[in-house]
This record gives sequence, C-alpha cells and structure tokens, in this order.
Amino acid sequence: MEEKIPILNKIKGGGGGGITRPLFVFSLLLLFTLVALFSLQINSEYSVFSIRAFDFISGRVVSIPDPQQSCSGFFEEVLERKVVKSIKDFGGIGDGKTLNTAAFRRAIEFMARFKASGGSQLVVPKGRWVTGSFNLTSNFTLFLQHGAVILGSQDPNEWPIIEALPSYGRGRERLGARHISLIHGNGLSNVVITGENGTIDGQGKMWWELWWNRTLVHTRGHLVELVNSQNILIQNLTLLNSPFWTIHPVYCRNIVIRNMTILAPLNAPNTDGIDADSSLNVCIEDCYIESGDDLVSVKSGWDQYGMKIARPSSNIIVRRVRGTTPTCSGVGIGSEMSGGVSNVIIEDLHVRDSAAGVRIKTDIGRGGYIANVTINNMRMERVKVPIRFSRGANDHPDDKWDPKALPKVRGIFISNVVSLETKRPPLLEGIEEAPFEDIHMKNISLFGLAPSMKWNCEFISGSSCSVFPAPCSQLLKNEFQCPN
Ligand SMILES: *[C@@H]1O[C@H](CO)[C@@H](O)[C@H](O)[C@H]1NC(C)=O
Ligand SMILES: *[C@@H]1O[C@H](CO)[C@@H](O)[C@H](O)[C@H]1NC(C)=O
Ligand SMILES: *[C@@H]1O[C@H](CO)[C@@H](O)[C@H](O)[C@H]1NC(C)=O
Ligand SMILES: *[C@@H]1O[C@H](CO)[C@@H](O)[C@H](O)[C@H]1NC(C)=O
Ligand SMILES: *[C@@H]1O[C@H](CO)[C@@H](O)[C@H](O)[C@H]1NC(C)=O
Ligand SMILES: *[C@@H]1O[C@H](CO)[C@@H](O)[C@H](O)[C@H]1NC(C)=O
Ligand SMILES: *[C@@H]1O[C@H](CO)[C@@H](O)[C@H](O)[C@H]1NC(C)=O
Ligand SMILES: *[C@@H]1O[C@H](CO)[C@@H](O)[C@H](O)[C@H]1NC(C)=O
Repeated sequence: MEEKIPILNKIKGGGGGGITRPLFVFSLLLLFTLVALFSLQINSEYSVFSIRAFDFISGRVVSIPDPQQSCSGFFEEVLERKVVKSIKDFGGIGDGKTLNTAAFRRAIEFMARFKASGGSQLVVPKGRWVTGSFNLTSNFTLFLQHGAVILGSQDPNEWPIIEALPSYGRGRERLGARHISLIHGNGLSNVVITGENGTIDGQGKMWWELWWNRTLVHTRGHLVELVNSQNILIQNLTLLNSPFWTIHPVYCRNIVIRNMTILAPLNAPNTDGIDADSSLNVCIEDCYIESGDDLVSVKSGWDQYGMKIARPSSNIIVRRVRGTTPTCSGVGIGSEMSGGVSNVIIEDLHVRDSAAGVRIKTDIGRGGYIANVTINNMRMERVKVPIRFSRGANDHPDDKWDPKALPKVRGIFISNVVSLETKRPPLLEGIEEAPFEDIHMKNISLFGLAPSMKWNCEFISGSSCSVFPAPCSQLLKNEFQCPN
C-alpha cells in the first residue's frame, strides 16, 4: 500500500534521520521561501504557503507573481480546424421543438473523417437546439455562437444506457448501467468545447423529479462527460440544469475548464459543478458556479472498485472559482477517493451562503489516500462550517467493501482564510484507526462565531499559527514558528 504513495513516502523520507516533523515542515517552508526569493522580484502577497502554480512537466514549483496567471499552460493549442460546418448543414432545426439527435450524430460521423487530416469544427448558431445524447470526436471543436442553446431532450430514451465506470463498479445512484451524458466523449484527444457564451441546458428537472419520487431506474447522466481522453479545453460557455454532475472528466489527462458559468437550482439533487475524477493535470479557473451540490469536487473511485482500478486524481488546480451551494461545499475532496488524490491546489476560492468552504470526505472501506492539498486565499460569507473534514455516511457500493481498507489523509495546508458571518466553527473529524496527519493551518480568521463556539477536532494532528478563534488542541501541540 505504502509504496503506491510516493508523496507520503517523500514526507516520511524527509522526516527520517532524526528530523522531527515540525523541523521538516520548517525546512520545507525555508526552501519555498528561497525559491520565491530567487525566482521573482519579491511580491508582498507571496507567502511560503502560497505555491502559486507548478510546472506539470517537471513537477517543480514555479512562482507566479501575477494573480491573473492561468494554470492552463499545459494545454497544447490546437491548430485551426480544416473543415467548419454548421449543424444546419446536417438538417438541424433550432426551433426549440424539433429533435436534433440524428442531425448531431450525422454531423459527428461526418466530422470524425477529418480527425487525422486537419480536424473539424461544428458550429451551433443562434437558436434552440433540442437533442438527445451525442458523442464528440478527436481534433474537434464544438462552437456555440452567441444565443445558441443546446437543450437536453426530455425523453430518457434519448440518453441511452452505457456501462458503469469500472472504478465505481455500478452506477453511482443505482446498481448496474447508467444513462450516458448529453455530450459524451470516450478515448478522444484535442477537443475544444467553446463559444460566445452559448448555453447547454440539460433541462434536468424531469431527472430530479425521478430522483425525488424514487422512480429513477438507472443512474442519471451527466451534462458533459469525457472518459479516457486528453488535451481537452472547455471554456466561455454557460451550462444549465444538468440532470446529475455537470462536467465530469474521468480517466483523463490535461484538462482545462475555464471562464464557465454553471447554474442549477440550489435544491437540484447532486448537480455538482465540475467533478475531476481519476484524472491527471486538471486546471479549473475563473468559473462561477451555483448548484445543489459541490461547486468543484475531486474524486477517484469508490471502495473496492476504485482501489482495484487505482487511477488517482493528481495535479489538480482550482483557482478563482466563486459561487454558492447551500447544502454542500465550495470544493469537496471525496468522498469517493479510493484511487487516491494528491497534489491539489485550491486558490482564490470565494464561497458564500453555503454549507462548507472546503470539505474533505472519506470513510472506512475507501482505502486510497488524500495527500498534499494546498488551500490558499479562501473568502467566505455566511458559510455554515468553513472547513470540514468528515468520515463517511456509510455510503458503499455494495456489501463487499473491506472494513480494513482505511484511507490515508495527510499533508493538508490551509492558509489565508477569511470567513464572515461564520455559522459554526471548523469540524475536523478523522478516523480513529487512521488519524488524519500533517494538517497545517496558517492565517485563518473566522468572524461571527460566539465565544463559546470551539473548533471540534477528532483523530487529527498538525500545527497552526495565526488562527482565530484559537484552533483545537490537536493543532496546537506542534506549533511551529510562524513565519512573517
Ligand atoms: C506537493 O504539491 C506541490 C505543488 O502541488 C509540489 O510541488 C510538491 O512537490 C508536492 N509535495 C510532495 C511532498 O509531493
Ligand atoms: C489530431 O491531429 C494531430 C495534429 O495533426 C495528429 O497528430 C493526431 O494524430 C490527430 N489525432 C487523431 C486521433 O487523429
Ligand atoms: C457514444 O459513445 C458511447 C461510449 O463510447 C457508445 O456506447 C455509444 O454507442 C456512442 N453513441 C453513438 C451515437 O455513437
Ligand atoms: C474565450 O476565452 C478565452 C480565454 O478564457 C479568450 O482568450 C477568448 O477570446 C474567448 N473567446 C471568445 C469567443 O469569447
Ligand atoms: C469569458 O467568456 C466570455 C463569453 O462567455 C467572453 O466574452 C470573455 O471574453 C471571456 N473572458 C475571458 C477572460 O476569456
Ligand atoms: C454568460 O451568460 C450567463 C447566463 O446568461 C451570465 O450569467 C454570464 O454573466 C455570462 N458570462 C459572460 C462572461 O458574459
Ligand atoms: C416521478 O417523476 C416523473 C418525472 O417528472 C413523472 O413522470 C412521474 O409521473 C413521477 N412519478 C410519481 C410516482 O410521482
Ligand atoms: C491573511 O489572509 C488574508 C486573507 O487572504 C490576507 O488578506 C492577509 O494579507 C493575510 N495576512 C498575512 C500576514 O499573510
């Protein structure tokens, strides 16, 4: 188990030879400070905790003084597409009534011919284009012009059934197979979904009702799902009313999602904004998200199925994301994390009127790990529990989960947090048999709490400095020198 987790080994290795953990942490801080000092003119905002980005190729930390800097650098720009067609060329009718599933599928079949010879772009002009699910192809751009609205069909048969993901072993909500997403891709490369703030509206209400009234037969489909794909860019669009999670890259690498507006009613069940799942190198930036579940979630499979497939989520950057979700979190990590989650940077997160700012969720039976998560610059207003770690809700795929499969949670750095009108103090609950370790908090101010309200911590350990109100004793034990 341990050798599958190089990050943890690294931390362990560094801490060996008689170096104590606080000392190790301090030398790490020193190193980062030196990197900062040598690589840029000193920026007053730069703190040792604020790793502003890192180079995905070399894995080196790079300091970026410009706060507007993008994390999308690894995206390989696509060449101009050789063939450009409109959905109208394939018989599409954008009258808000005509079903265009056949037109979209014909279009893609045609466009796929050019994937190895210059690529193609399908333009969706102004209009309301009702459609069932369709697949994308490689070296392909889907471009929604200003005023273009793709509407998900209200007929469940237009969202055919596909196999469950192997890392979940079943549909997430129902046993067996699941509905395909409205816009789907499998095994693709060099795909761009973009436009002039065009809209993809899943019209999910029918699906939410099936969920609420307990007549849903198969797990709901996502709005956009990419499986086993790479070099994908999704930008400049509005996504509305997904039946289930809105954007779901799974088993992918090199994914950029930026400048998106994602909206669903605040009570719409499980309408997560973006779920980075078992994927490497994911850049999510400049998005506004309002939904009935986590704005952004990082996952990697469910219990024994996730452990067997062992596809981690790693190198995930979430920055300048804003929004609200009254029952869930700004960023949630887990609870499905059985393939492991590591190297996550969450920066400039602004969450209001929500249940949590960041939440780390796991459970006995999950196995896997959550390691090296950096959360820097988080602003919250009227958030119930600003920082929350939890062990699960007894949510397992079936009764074959292994009670001895304990998750490892280690290396969580949280800094520069302000929360106004905070409802409750942080609730940090680790697992008794597998305490969460190396939890570090710095410069955290949670305003609005009654003096009687104390941090609640169980089975966690770490350190803190400049935290108000005073953190729990578990974070005070190893208090290290607070760097200026
Ligand atoms: C933690 O993450 C940072 C940035 O994501 C990376 O540079 C660093 O090497 C990671 N640390 C370990 C111990 O893996
Ligand atoms: C996509 O285009 C690139 C550049 O022309 C090419 O190297 C690649 O093989 C193409 N991909 C596919 C799946 O045809
Ligand atoms: C779309 O892709 C899925 C998964 O690869 C496949 O099962 C389905 O048949 C494809 N649909 C169409 C219309 O090609
Ligand atoms: C889309 O966004 C990118 C950067 O996020 C920007 O450079 C580009 O001009 C935008 N395109 C349109 C059509 O608005
Ligand atoms: C964001 O997308 C909108 C269209 O939705 C575009 O007008 C704008 O230029 C984009 N902004 C950036 C910074 O790319
Ligand atoms: C795009 O449209 C949405 C919905 O109409 C709107 O809320 C958002 O501000 C627009 N985004 C941009 C960048 O214009
Ligand atoms: C459940 O919701 C669906 C979708 O709106 C509806 O068609 C169906 O009649 C409802 N079933 C019950 C038992 O309420
Ligand atoms: C503490 O965090 C707040 C919020 O990000 C920031 O404005 C402030 O400059 C930070 N203070 C220090 C000493 O880093």
